[in-house]
Amino acid sequence: MSTFQAPKGTYDLIPPDSATYLAVREAIAAPLKNSGYGYIETPGFENIELFSRGVGESTDIVSKEMYAFETKGGDKLALRPEGTASVLRAALEANLHKAGNLPVKLWYSGSYYRYERPQKGRYRHFSQVGAEAIGAEDPALDAELIILADQAYRSLGLRQFRILLNSLGDKECRPVYRDALQGFLRALDVDEDTRRRIEINPLRILDDKRDAVQKQLVGAPMLRDYLCDACKAYHEEVRELLTAAGVTYEDDEKLVRGLDYYTRTTFEFVHDGLGSQSAVGGGGRYDGLSEMIGGPALPSVGWALGVDRTVLALEAEGIELELPATTSVFAVPLGEEARRVLFALVTELRRAGVAADFSYGGKGLKGAMKSANRSGARYTLVAGERDLAEGVVQLKDMESGEQTPVALVDAVNAIRERLA
Ligand code: HAM
Repeated sequence: MSTFQAPKGTYDLIPPDSATYLAVREAIAAPLKNSGYGYIETPGFENIELFSRGVGESTDIVSKEMYAFETKGGDKLALRPEGTASVLRAALEANLHKAGNLPVKLWYSGSYYRYERPQKGRYRHFSQVGAEAIGAEDPALDAELIILADQAYRSLGLRQFRILLNSLGDKECRPVYRDALQGFLRALDVDEDTRRRIEINPLRILDDKRDAVQKQLVGAPMLRDYLCDACKAYHEEVRELLTAAGVTYEDDEKLVRGLDYYTRTTFEFVHDGLGSQSAVGGGGRYDGLSEMIGGPALPSVGWALGVDRTVLALEAEGIELELPATTSVFAVPLGEEARRVLFALVTELRRAGVAADFSYGGKGLKGAMKSANRSGARYTLVAGERDLAEGVVQLKDMESGEQTPVALVDAVNAIRERLA
């Protein structure tokens, strides 16, 4: 071990486990790529105000968990705690919404940073794959996103997840509800922190995880009873479209989410094998965010799925993804001349698209065969002086153990044929 370790709340992705992470990212992205979403990449840090205005001053994410810093040039920046505000900022900056093709559908994949108390499933550096559909108010778009996330999880073989669904209302009906809820909450006997929260973010108290708080919430006014007709109709249509698509969900009137920009549809994917950090993904509609960050009215909806937690969910369900071996052919040279010849052959194989690797470091036969085994290669190529004198290399099938000489000049073709 060196003097250094990965910083608290972070971990390194290393082979072979890292292959699972890549596969999870790809599995989440696949249905998006197949549904009109274009890839977007934004910087790892942004002007801090984008998040304080976008995600909200009153959220834990902004008030407690942001990695904020000032540069030598005096810019106030923050490592991105989430992707939605950045993606919308980038779309506005590039005028994507003016190209006359709404919604603008984008997907992304990357690292996010939150200064949280680390525990299993909760890290200070984590990874999300996300999707945002910008500039359209259409329940089918909300439904599309939920259906695609469901499809992604199912394609990975996951089954023990649930979809929680709610509507948070809009700028007409939510303020009325907020007032009613505050009235109810102010009469409760709660701690200092919660009391403060009643004033700045009362809805958040609904999904307080503490039993004592939940007990006091019995009889609290529920948003469902305050939704305006337009929000009700919108939500009903999202629900019907999901049902028609065969996607099961649970209505969860206490689902609030930890970011301030949500309006109407909100949802979370929770996995029952993960303990307290059970949310593997979440999202919703954010019709007011564009205006909050200085843009035009652009009703939008999106989600982000956590890659780290999705991998934990796979483990919890005992699912091992079928990842093809990365190396098909492993070359083991015996002697200097063979080293040159086989190295050239490996180069040729690679150029022909065959995944090939080579025994480096002048290992003996035994050590080299161990490396060949570990590589997972289907075939091993062995050659010594006598083979080369005969113009052949030995091709060993690692499954059957059978070894056959093949002519060196024809080796690439012979191997490609066998692998096909
Ligand atoms: P979020 O619910 O804050 O939403 O994060 C989405 C997912 O990222 C979570 O469900 C979880 O799987 C993962 N995640 C969040 N924090 C951590 C952490 N500290 N450690 C490990 N995983 C974590 C958003 O970020 C919104 N931008 C989603 C969205 C997109 N809404 C609309 N569009």
